[in-house]
Amino acid sequence: MKLTKLTAALCASVAMPAMATELEVTHWWTSGGEAAAVAELAKAFDASGDKWIDGAIAGGGGTARPIMISRITGGDPMGATQFNHGQQALELVEAGLMLDLTDVAEANNWKEIVYPPSLLDACTVDGKIYCAPVNIHSPEWLWLSNKVYEDIGIPVPKDWNEFVATAPQVEAAGKIPLALGNQPWQSNLAFGAMQIAVAGLDAWKAVNVDKNMDVAAGPEYAKVFQAAADARKLAAKSTVQDWNQATNLVITDEAAGQIMGDWAQGEFQVANEVAGKDYTCLPGLGLNEYISTGGDAFYFPKLDDPEKEAAQKRLAALLVSPEVQVAFNLKKGSLPIRGDIDLSAANDCMKKGLEILAGGNIVPSGDMNWNPDVQKQAEDLMVEFWKSDMPAEEAQAKWVEILKSGL
Ligand code: BGC
Repeated sequence: MKLTKLTAALCASVAMPAMATELEVTHWWTSGGEAAAVAELAKAFDASGDKWIDGAIAGGGGTARPIMISRITGGDPMGATQFNHGQQALELVEAGLMLDLTDVAEANNWKEIVYPPSLLDACTVDGKIYCAPVNIHSPEWLWLSNKVYEDIGIPVPKDWNEFVATAPQVEAAGKIPLALGNQPWQSNLAFGAMQIAVAGLDAWKAVNVDKNMDVAAGPEYAKVFQAAADARKLAAKSTVQDWNQATNLVITDEAAGQIMGDWAQGEFQVANEVAGKDYTCLPGLGLNEYISTGGDAFYFPKLDDPEKEAAQKRLAALLVSPEVQVAFNLKKGSLPIRGDIDLSAANDCMKKGLEILAGGNIVPSGDMNWNPDVQKQAEDLMVEFWKSDMPAEEAQAKWVEILKSGL
Protein backbone atom coordinates (compact mmCIF):
# COMPACT_ATOMS: atom_id res chain seq x y z
CA MET A 1 0.00 0.00 0.00
CA LYS A 2 1.34 3.47 -0.82
CA LEU A 3 2.07 5.78 2.10
CA THR A 4 -0.62 8.25 1.03
CA LYS A 5 -3.26 5.52 1.00
CA LEU A 6 -2.01 4.19 4.31
CA THR A 7 -2.17 7.66 5.84
CA ALA A 8 -5.71 8.15 4.58
CA ALA A 9 -6.77 4.77 5.93
CA LEU A 10 -5.24 5.52 9.30
CA CYS A 11 -6.86 8.95 9.48
CA ALA A 12 -10.21 7.32 8.85
CA SER A 13 -9.81 4.69 11.54
CA VAL A 14 -8.03 6.64 14.29
CA ALA A 15 -9.08 10.01 15.68
CA MET A 16 -6.51 12.68 14.79
CA PRO A 17 -4.98 14.59 17.71
CA ALA A 18 -4.85 18.40 17.53
CA MET A 19 -1.09 18.47 18.16
CA ALA A 20 1.62 15.85 17.96
CA THR A 21 2.22 14.19 21.29
CA GLU A 22 5.58 12.50 21.77
CA LEU A 23 5.71 9.00 23.19
CA GLU A 24 8.92 7.15 23.87
CA VAL A 25 8.48 3.50 22.89
CA THR A 26 10.94 0.90 24.16
CA HIS A 27 11.52 -2.49 22.49
CA TRP A 28 14.37 -4.91 21.70
CA TRP A 29 13.99 -4.92 17.94
CA THR A 30 17.48 -4.04 16.76
CA SER A 31 18.37 -6.60 14.04
CA GLY A 32 17.98 -5.59 10.38
CA GLY A 33 14.61 -7.28 9.93
CA GLU A 34 13.31 -6.11 13.30
CA ALA A 35 14.34 -2.51 12.65
CA ALA A 36 12.53 -2.58 9.29
CA ALA A 37 9.38 -3.85 11.01
CA VAL A 38 9.33 -1.43 13.92
CA ALA A 39 9.88 1.43 11.44
CA GLU A 40 6.40 0.60 10.10
CA LEU A 41 4.89 1.20 13.54
CA ALA A 42 6.74 4.48 13.94
CA LYS A 43 5.72 5.59 10.44
CA ALA A 44 2.06 4.87 11.10
CA PHE A 45 2.06 6.64 14.49
CA ASP A 46 3.75 9.71 13.04
CA ALA A 47 1.38 9.71 10.06
CA SER A 48 -1.57 9.70 12.45
CA GLY A 49 -0.35 12.99 13.90
CA ASP A 50 1.63 11.89 16.98
CA LYS A 51 5.37 11.36 17.34
CA TRP A 52 7.13 8.03 17.98
CA ILE A 53 10.38 8.48 19.92
CA ASP A 54 12.28 5.28 19.37
CA GLY A 55 13.74 3.66 22.47
CA ALA A 56 15.37 0.53 21.03
CA ILE A 57 17.42 -1.43 23.58
CA ALA A 58 20.15 -3.65 22.13
CA GLY A 59 21.07 -7.11 23.43
CA GLY A 60 17.77 -8.98 23.10
CA GLY A 61 14.82 -9.40 25.41
CA GLY A 62 16.90 -10.83 28.25
CA THR A 63 18.85 -7.57 28.46
CA ALA A 64 16.01 -5.22 27.61
CA ARG A 65 13.29 -6.46 29.95
CA PRO A 66 15.08 -5.74 33.26
CA ILE A 67 15.88 -2.23 31.99
CA MET A 68 12.26 -1.64 31.00
CA ILE A 69 10.95 -2.94 34.31
CA SER A 70 13.37 -0.92 36.43
CA ARG A 71 12.51 2.24 34.53
CA ILE A 72 8.81 1.69 35.23
CA THR A 73 9.25 0.75 38.89
CA GLY A 74 11.92 3.43 39.37
CA GLY A 75 9.72 6.36 38.34
CA ASP A 76 11.08 6.89 34.81
CA PRO A 77 8.34 5.28 32.71
CA MET A 78 8.30 5.33 28.92
CA GLY A 79 5.13 5.96 26.89
CA ALA A 80 4.84 2.37 25.71
CA THR A 81 6.88 -0.77 25.86
CA GLN A 82 7.13 -4.18 24.26
CA PHE A 83 6.82 -7.36 26.29
CA ASN A 84 6.15 -10.93 25.19
CA HIS A 85 2.63 -12.32 25.54
CA GLY A 86 2.21 -13.80 28.96
CA GLN A 87 3.22 -12.91 32.46
CA GLN A 88 6.19 -10.60 31.95
CA ALA A 89 4.26 -7.47 32.95
CA LEU A 90 1.93 -9.10 35.48
CA GLU A 91 3.67 -7.72 38.56
CA LEU A 92 3.73 -4.23 37.04
CA VAL A 93 -0.01 -4.45 36.38
CA GLU A 94 -0.70 -5.77 39.87
CA ALA A 95 1.35 -2.92 41.34
CA GLY A 96 -1.04 -0.48 39.60
CA LEU A 97 1.69 0.92 37.34
CA MET A 98 0.11 0.18 33.96
CA LEU A 99 -2.65 1.93 32.04
CA ASP A 100 -6.03 0.19 31.76
CA LEU A 101 -6.90 -0.10 28.05
CA THR A 102 -10.32 -1.68 28.49
CA ASP A 103 -12.12 1.31 26.92
CA VAL A 104 -9.87 1.15 23.83
CA ALA A 105 -10.42 -2.60 23.55
CA GLU A 106 -14.19 -2.19 23.81
CA ALA A 107 -14.37 0.71 21.36
CA ASN A 108 -12.40 -1.31 18.81
CA ASN A 109 -14.07 -4.71 19.42
CA TRP A 110 -10.81 -6.45 20.37
CA LYS A 111 -12.75 -9.31 21.97
CA GLU A 112 -14.34 -10.12 18.62
CA ILE A 113 -11.31 -9.61 16.38
CA VAL A 114 -8.23 -10.82 18.28
CA TYR A 115 -7.39 -14.41 17.33
CA PRO A 116 -6.55 -16.67 19.09
CA PRO A 117 -8.43 -15.33 22.15
CA SER A 118 -5.57 -16.49 24.40
CA LEU A 119 -3.65 -13.39 23.24
CA LEU A 120 -6.20 -11.07 24.79
CA ASP A 121 -6.52 -13.34 27.83
CA ALA A 122 -2.80 -12.80 28.38
CA CYS A 123 -3.47 -9.03 28.44
CA THR A 124 -6.34 -9.39 30.91
CA VAL A 125 -5.96 -9.05 34.67
CA ASP A 126 -9.08 -9.02 36.88
CA GLY A 127 -11.28 -8.50 33.83
CA LYS A 128 -9.39 -5.42 32.61
CA ILE A 129 -7.22 -5.26 29.49
CA TYR A 130 -3.68 -3.94 29.88
CA CYS A 131 -1.97 -4.59 26.56
CA ALA A 132 -2.33 -4.38 22.81
CA PRO A 133 -1.13 -7.57 21.12
CA VAL A 134 0.74 -6.89 17.88
CA ASN A 135 1.81 -10.26 16.51
CA ILE A 136 2.11 -14.00 16.88
CA HIS A 137 5.61 -15.39 16.86
CA SER A 138 6.48 -19.03 17.24
CA PRO A 139 9.92 -20.31 18.16
CA GLU A 140 9.52 -23.87 16.79
CA TRP A 141 11.21 -23.53 13.40
CA LEU A 142 14.26 -24.99 11.71
CA TRP A 143 15.78 -22.70 9.05
CA LEU A 144 18.00 -24.33 6.44
CA SER A 145 20.41 -23.09 3.77
CA ASN A 146 19.45 -24.83 0.52
CA LYS A 147 22.85 -24.11 -0.99
CA VAL A 148 24.77 -26.03 1.68
CA TYR A 149 22.87 -29.19 0.69
CA GLU A 150 22.92 -28.46 -3.05
CA ASP A 151 26.71 -28.11 -2.92
CA ILE A 152 27.05 -31.45 -1.16
CA GLY A 153 24.63 -32.98 -3.64
CA ILE A 154 22.02 -34.23 -1.20
CA PRO A 155 18.36 -33.23 -0.74
CA VAL A 156 17.51 -30.54 1.78
CA PRO A 157 16.40 -32.35 4.99
CA LYS A 158 12.68 -32.60 5.52
CA ASP A 159 12.85 -32.90 9.30
CA TRP A 160 15.11 -32.85 12.35
CA ASN A 161 16.01 -36.55 12.03
CA GLU A 162 17.27 -36.10 8.46
CA PHE A 163 19.07 -32.96 9.58
CA VAL A 164 20.97 -34.90 12.26
CA ALA A 165 21.61 -37.89 9.95
CA THR A 166 23.18 -35.67 7.25
CA ALA A 167 25.21 -33.53 9.66
CA PRO A 168 28.44 -35.56 9.19
CA GLN A 169 28.34 -34.76 5.45
CA VAL A 170 27.81 -31.09 6.25
CA GLU A 171 30.77 -31.14 8.61
CA ALA A 172 32.93 -32.96 6.06
CA ALA A 173 32.17 -30.12 3.64
CA GLY A 174 33.62 -27.67 6.17
CA LYS A 175 30.30 -26.19 7.25
CA ILE A 176 28.77 -25.77 10.71
CA PRO A 177 25.76 -28.09 11.01
CA LEU A 178 23.83 -25.98 13.52
CA ALA A 179 24.21 -22.24 14.06
CA LEU A 180 23.44 -21.16 17.61
CA GLY A 181 24.04 -17.82 19.32
CA ASN A 182 25.61 -17.80 22.75
CA GLN A 183 22.92 -15.90 24.67
CA PRO A 184 21.11 -18.12 27.19
CA TRP A 185 17.61 -17.71 25.72
CA GLN A 186 18.72 -19.16 22.40
CA SER A 187 19.67 -22.62 23.66
CA ASN A 188 16.51 -22.55 25.77
CA LEU A 189 14.47 -21.74 22.66
CA ALA A 190 16.07 -24.64 20.78
CA PHE A 191 15.18 -26.95 23.65
CA GLY A 192 11.58 -25.66 23.65
CA ALA A 193 11.29 -26.32 19.91
CA MET A 194 12.60 -29.85 20.40
CA GLN A 195 10.05 -30.53 23.14
CA ILE A 196 7.02 -30.30 20.90
CA ALA A 197 8.80 -31.66 17.81
CA VAL A 198 10.32 -34.72 19.45
CA ALA A 199 7.97 -35.52 22.36
CA GLY A 200 4.81 -34.77 20.37
CA LEU A 201 1.71 -32.87 21.32
CA ASP A 202 0.27 -35.18 23.97
CA ALA A 203 3.43 -35.42 26.03
CA TRP A 204 4.04 -31.70 25.58
CA LYS A 205 0.57 -30.84 26.87
CA ALA A 206 0.84 -33.29 29.74
CA VAL A 207 3.97 -31.50 30.97
CA ASN A 208 3.35 -27.85 30.11
CA VAL A 209 -0.41 -27.55 30.53
CA ASP A 210 -1.41 -30.34 32.93
CA LYS A 211 1.96 -30.14 34.72
CA ASN A 212 2.35 -33.90 34.86
CA MET A 213 5.80 -34.41 36.32
CA ASP A 214 5.83 -38.16 35.63
CA VAL A 215 5.72 -37.45 31.91
CA ALA A 216 8.43 -34.79 32.36
CA ALA A 217 10.63 -37.42 33.96
CA GLY A 218 9.58 -40.19 31.55
CA PRO A 219 10.77 -41.75 28.28
CA GLU A 220 9.17 -39.30 25.80
CA TYR A 221 11.07 -36.48 27.42
CA ALA A 222 14.24 -38.55 27.63
CA LYS A 223 14.16 -38.44 23.81
CA VAL A 224 13.94 -34.65 23.91
CA PHE A 225 17.01 -34.42 26.11
CA GLN A 226 18.81 -36.83 23.79
CA ALA A 227 17.92 -34.59 20.81
CA ALA A 228 19.30 -31.62 22.75
CA ALA A 229 22.52 -33.56 23.38
CA ASP A 230 22.76 -34.20 19.59
CA ALA A 231 22.15 -30.54 18.87
CA ARG A 232 24.84 -29.56 21.38
CA LYS A 233 27.43 -31.49 19.34
CA LEU A 234 26.21 -30.04 16.05
CA ALA A 235 26.49 -26.49 17.38
CA ALA A 236 29.95 -26.94 18.92
CA LYS A 237 31.68 -24.82 16.25
CA SER A 238 29.13 -22.00 16.32
CA THR A 239 30.80 -19.11 18.15
CA VAL A 240 28.47 -16.18 17.47
CA GLN A 241 26.59 -14.27 20.14
CA ASP A 242 23.36 -12.74 18.79
CA TRP A 243 20.55 -14.74 17.19
CA ASN A 244 20.73 -12.72 13.98
CA GLN A 245 24.46 -13.41 13.67
CA ALA A 246 23.56 -17.10 13.77
CA THR A 247 20.85 -16.52 11.12
CA ASN A 248 23.48 -14.76 9.07
CA LEU A 249 25.62 -17.90 9.10
CA VAL A 250 22.71 -19.69 7.40
CA ILE A 251 22.10 -16.80 4.99
CA THR A 252 25.77 -16.81 3.96
CA ASP A 253 25.73 -20.64 3.69
CA GLU A 254 28.39 -21.06 6.39
CA ALA A 255 25.99 -23.06 8.50
CA ALA A 256 23.38 -25.58 7.38
CA GLY A 257 20.64 -24.66 9.82
CA GLN A 258 19.39 -22.78 12.84
CA ILE A 259 16.56 -23.44 15.24
CA MET A 260 15.00 -20.04 15.72
CA GLY A 261 11.68 -18.24 15.92
CA ASP A 262 9.93 -17.04 12.79
CA TRP A 263 11.39 -13.58 13.35
CA ALA A 264 14.39 -15.03 11.46
CA GLN A 265 12.32 -14.42 8.33
CA GLY A 266 12.90 -10.70 8.69
CA GLU A 267 16.66 -11.31 8.28
CA PHE A 268 16.23 -13.51 5.19
CA GLN A 269 14.01 -10.81 3.71
CA VAL A 270 16.43 -7.94 4.20
CA ALA A 271 19.12 -10.16 2.65
CA ASN A 272 16.82 -10.64 -0.38
CA GLU A 273 16.66 -14.41 0.14
CA VAL A 274 13.61 -16.20 -1.22
CA ALA A 275 11.72 -18.77 0.87
CA GLY A 276 11.69 -22.15 -0.87
CA LYS A 277 14.50 -21.18 -3.25
CA ASP A 278 17.38 -19.96 -1.08
CA TYR A 279 16.21 -21.30 2.25
CA THR A 280 13.78 -23.81 3.69
CA CYS A 281 11.71 -23.46 6.83
CA LEU A 282 10.43 -26.44 8.80
CA PRO A 283 7.80 -25.58 11.41
CA GLY A 284 7.82 -28.04 14.30
CA LEU A 285 11.28 -29.03 13.01
CA GLY A 286 9.39 -30.94 10.31
CA LEU A 287 8.28 -33.57 12.84
CA ASN A 288 5.17 -32.15 14.49
CA GLU A 289 3.74 -29.08 12.83
CA TYR A 290 2.56 -27.20 15.88
CA ILE A 291 3.43 -23.64 16.65
CA SER A 292 3.05 -21.80 19.89
CA THR A 293 1.29 -18.47 19.96
CA GLY A 294 3.93 -16.36 21.62
CA GLY A 295 4.85 -12.96 20.34
CA ASP A 296 4.71 -9.36 21.33
CA ALA A 297 2.32 -6.96 22.97
CA PHE A 298 2.62 -3.32 23.95
CA TYR A 299 1.97 -2.12 27.48
CA PHE A 300 1.52 1.49 28.49
CA PRO A 301 2.86 2.67 31.87
CA LYS A 302 0.70 5.22 33.72
CA LEU A 303 2.15 8.68 33.14
CA ASP A 304 -0.17 10.97 35.10
CA ASP A 305 -0.52 13.24 32.05
CA PRO A 306 -3.94 13.34 30.31
CA GLU A 307 -2.48 14.41 26.97
CA LYS A 308 0.06 11.56 26.94
CA GLU A 309 -2.59 9.13 28.13
CA ALA A 310 -4.79 10.03 25.17
CA ALA A 311 -1.81 9.45 22.83
CA GLN A 312 -1.09 6.12 24.50
CA LYS A 313 -4.65 5.02 23.80
CA ARG A 314 -4.41 6.23 20.20
CA LEU A 315 -1.23 4.16 19.77
CA ALA A 316 -2.87 1.10 21.32
CA ALA A 317 -5.78 1.33 18.85
CA LEU A 318 -3.44 1.91 15.94
CA LEU A 319 -1.29 -1.16 16.67
CA VAL A 320 -4.29 -3.46 16.33
CA SER A 321 -5.71 -1.70 13.23
CA PRO A 322 -5.76 -3.76 10.00
CA GLU A 323 -3.40 -1.46 8.05
CA VAL A 324 -0.69 -1.54 10.71
CA GLN A 325 -1.11 -5.28 11.23
CA VAL A 326 -0.41 -5.91 7.54
CA ALA A 327 2.52 -3.51 7.15
CA PHE A 328 4.23 -4.54 10.37
CA ASN A 329 3.78 -8.31 10.23
CA LEU A 330 4.91 -8.64 6.60
CA LYS A 331 8.26 -7.10 7.57
CA LYS A 332 8.50 -8.84 10.94
CA GLY A 333 7.86 -12.36 9.70
CA SER A 334 5.18 -12.76 12.36
CA LEU A 335 1.52 -13.60 11.97
CA PRO A 336 -1.18 -10.99 12.57
CA ILE A 337 -3.30 -11.06 15.72
CA ARG A 338 -6.50 -10.84 13.68
CA GLY A 339 -7.76 -13.17 10.98
CA ASP A 340 -9.74 -10.62 8.99
CA ILE A 341 -6.89 -9.03 7.03
CA ASP A 342 -5.38 -9.61 3.61
CA LEU A 343 -1.97 -11.27 3.77
CA SER A 344 -1.77 -12.36 0.14
CA ALA A 345 1.73 -10.86 0.00
CA ALA A 346 2.98 -13.36 2.61
CA ASN A 347 5.98 -15.53 1.60
CA ASP A 348 5.95 -19.36 1.62
CA CYS A 349 7.08 -19.63 5.22
CA MET A 350 4.52 -17.16 6.53
CA LYS A 351 1.88 -19.02 4.53
CA LYS A 352 2.86 -22.25 6.29
CA GLY A 353 2.47 -20.44 9.62
CA LEU A 354 -0.92 -19.04 8.59
CA GLU A 355 -2.13 -22.51 7.57
CA ILE A 356 -1.04 -24.01 10.88
CA LEU A 357 -2.79 -21.18 12.71
CA ALA A 358 -5.98 -21.55 10.68
CA GLY A 359 -5.94 -25.31 11.29
CA GLY A 360 -5.79 -24.62 15.03
CA ASN A 361 -2.52 -26.53 15.51
CA ILE A 362 -1.40 -24.07 18.13
CA VAL A 363 -0.25 -24.25 21.73
CA PRO A 364 0.29 -21.53 24.33
CA SER A 365 3.81 -20.13 24.62
CA GLY A 366 6.26 -20.86 27.44
CA ASP A 367 5.66 -17.38 28.84
CA MET A 368 2.02 -18.29 29.27
CA ASN A 369 2.66 -21.71 30.86
CA TRP A 370 5.42 -21.06 33.37
CA ASN A 371 6.20 -18.11 35.62
CA PRO A 372 9.34 -16.03 34.91
CA ASP A 373 11.21 -17.64 37.82
CA VAL A 374 10.78 -21.19 36.48
CA GLN A 375 11.72 -19.98 33.02
CA LYS A 376 14.85 -18.28 34.29
CA GLN A 377 15.97 -21.38 36.18
CA ALA A 378 15.28 -23.58 33.14
CA GLU A 379 17.27 -21.16 31.00
CA ASP A 380 20.22 -21.31 33.43
CA LEU A 381 20.11 -25.11 33.30
CA MET A 382 20.15 -25.04 29.51
CA VAL A 383 23.20 -22.75 29.52
CA GLU A 384 25.02 -25.17 31.79
CA PHE A 385 23.92 -28.16 29.70
CA TRP A 386 24.92 -26.67 26.33
CA LYS A 387 28.26 -25.44 27.56
CA SER A 388 29.29 -28.68 29.31
CA ASP A 389 29.07 -32.39 28.71
CA MET A 390 26.33 -32.86 31.29
CA PRO A 391 24.61 -36.17 30.47
CA ALA A 392 21.07 -35.95 29.07
CA GLU A 393 19.66 -37.95 32.03
CA GLU A 394 21.16 -35.58 34.58
CA ALA A 395 19.77 -32.54 32.77
CA GLN A 396 16.33 -34.12 32.63
CA ALA A 397 16.32 -34.84 36.37
CA LYS A 398 17.40 -31.26 37.19
CA TRP A 399 14.78 -29.87 34.83
CA VAL A 400 11.97 -31.79 36.50
CA GLU A 401 13.00 -30.33 39.88
CA ILE A 402 12.84 -26.83 38.40
CA LEU A 403 9.36 -27.40 36.98
CA LYS A 404 8.19 -28.78 40.33
CA SER A 405 9.26 -25.53 42.01
CA GLY A 406 6.70 -23.71 39.84
CA LEU A 407 3.68 -25.89 40.70
C1 BGC B 1 10.23 -11.38 20.23
C2 BGC B 1 10.48 -11.12 18.77
C3 BGC B 1 11.93 -10.78 18.53
C4 BGC B 1 12.82 -11.84 19.13
C5 BGC B 1 14.31 -11.62 18.93
C6 BGC B 1 11.24 -12.34 20.80
O1 BGC B 1 11.09 -12.38 22.19
O2 BGC B 1 8.94 -11.89 20.42
O3 BGC B 1 9.65 -10.08 18.31
O4 BGC B 1 12.17 -10.62 17.16
O5 BGC B 1 12.57 -11.90 20.52
O6 BGC B 1 14.71 -10.35 19.30
